[in-house]
Amino acid sequence: MKNPQQEQQKLIFLPLPNNRLLHNFIYIIPYFLIFGCGLILATSPKIFPNIDIGDLFVTVKVINNNITVDYSSSPPPSSPPSTPPPSQTVLDVEKRDSPSPPSPTLSLKHHHMEDEELLWMASMVPKNKGNNNNNNLVKPKIAFMFLVRGELPLAPLWELFFRGHEGLYSIYVHANPSYNQSYHQDSVFYDRRIPSKEVQWGKFNMVEAERRLLANALLDHSNQRFVLLSESCIPLFNFTTVYSYLINSTKSYVEVYDKKGGTGQGRYSPRMNPLIRLSQWRKGSQWFEMSRKLALEVISDRKYFPVFAKFCKNACYGDEHYLPTYVNIKFGKENTNRTVTWVDWSILGPHPGQYQRPRVTPTLLENLRTKYTCKYNGKKTNICFLFARKFMPSSLNRLLLFAPKILKFG
Ligand SMILES: *[C@@H]1O[C@H](CO)[C@@H](O)[C@H](O)[C@H]1NC(C)=O
Ligand SMILES: *[C@@H]1O[C@H](CO)[C@@H](O)[C@H](O)[C@H]1NC(C)=O
Ligand SMILES: *[C@@H]1O[C@H](CO)[C@@H](O)[C@H](O)[C@H]1NC(C)=O
Ligand SMILES: *[C@@H]1O[C@H](CO)[C@@H](O)[C@H](O)[C@H]1NC(C)=O
Ligand SMILES: *[C@@H]1O[C@H](CO)[C@@H](O)[C@H](O)[C@H]1NC(C)=O
Repeated sequence: MKNPQQEQQKLIFLPLPNNRLLHNFIYIIPYFLIFGCGLILATSPKIFPNIDIGDLFVTVKVINNNITVDYSSSPPPSSPPSTPPPSQTVLDVEKRDSPSPPSPTLSLKHHHMEDEELLWMASMVPKNKGNNNNNNLVKPKIAFMFLVRGELPLAPLWELFFRGHEGLYSIYVHANPSYNQSYHQDSVFYDRRIPSKEVQWGKFNMVEAERRLLANALLDHSNQRFVLLSESCIPLFNFTTVYSYLINSTKSYVEVYDKKGGTGQGRYSPRMNPLIRLSQWRKGSQWFEMSRKLALEVISDRKYFPVFAKFCKNACYGDEHYLPTYVNIKFGKENTNRTVTWVDWSILGPHPGQYQRPRVTPTLLENLRTKYTCKYNGKKTNICFLFARKFMPSSLNRLLLFAPKILKFG
């Protein structure tokens, strides 16, 4: 345990005080996951000798995102010296992917971890790929995270969008637990639901759901970009364009702006002072797109998140303020401050404009694709929005009709 070599094993060893715990073991695994992670986080050789070493060792392995827990009466053997250098975090995935890997199935979404444990697990994963030669074999993926109430009425459009690009994306669906329908086995959404909790629109549990999605998606190490979508979102470009735009982007797309008045600064609570000052308070759309590094920071935030949870309730609309404010305070330099998801605020009122069937025309879609000007990796571009909302179920047929010509897929 004192040998730094052991850090390279990517395993968590946890001594148990005695064997009586053995038959209860299955019930306490989650606690050991947390405890084990905590120990390893510290990784300080000082910590281990202080622990009363018993005769039971627990080994937690994560292989292709499949967690296995073994226990034995002797410490696990040291790994061969040829293991790759240790990454920032000890918990790592043993990559078994061949040069043309099938999209690894995410067995972890069948986990039974509570939020606390899940966030812990996810905060242990590597920030970036690339510090390990094996990673060259695995293509980076984009995590498409669907935060929905129930149905995905525009699923047929998304199916066309994703078809043929297997291995370059992962899909996660967070639906209200009361929704009990499932997708057909041939669907890209089949079996992609993550363990979810009730979400009320405008409530802070929306932010919890976003973090839940991020944590689940972070557990798959090949996910490098993370985009949050709703059931009314559509892609404005084909997969190839979206993929290269996001994978090659040097920054994240979390909308951040300062707004005077009741719907902006008016939602700030002075009780957040001094951790969060009014001058740092920001607003923005909840529909973000972010890098793996930022995603990891978001789920690891134990400082700002609890303050928001406490003081940003009800008419505060935490989903419009937590991320913008947090990113503004800590990661402004890594952010574009704009969103890649178009929404129509031309209609006055608390809710954005909806696109019913008659509003969906080739001109509308063309305009959303290229009518705007913004910066991409420091250069001017006309591609500012990759996705758009709010498209109603009635718009589906027209979208499918226009997709091949205008959106260039399907
Ligand atoms: C996880 O791995 C174990 C052993 O390799 C296997 O038996 C089990 O089916 C896997 N679980 C899932 C959900 O893939
Ligand atoms: C799904 O939910 C509906 C309404 O809540 C209920 O009537 C139905 O029996 C449920 N179906 C299944 C398969 O659980
Ligand atoms: C994807 O869309 C771009 C333009 O948006 C187009 O140039 C390209 O040919 C399309 N790719 C495919 C495979 O259709
Ligand atoms: C990213 O940009 C580089 C350099 O312009 C290019 O070679 C590469 O193909 C791009 N990657 C993707 C996924 O488009
Ligand atoms: C975004 O805002 C931050 C402050 O939150 C600023 O530091 C950064 O330069 C802005 N990014 C761009 C691309 O303007």
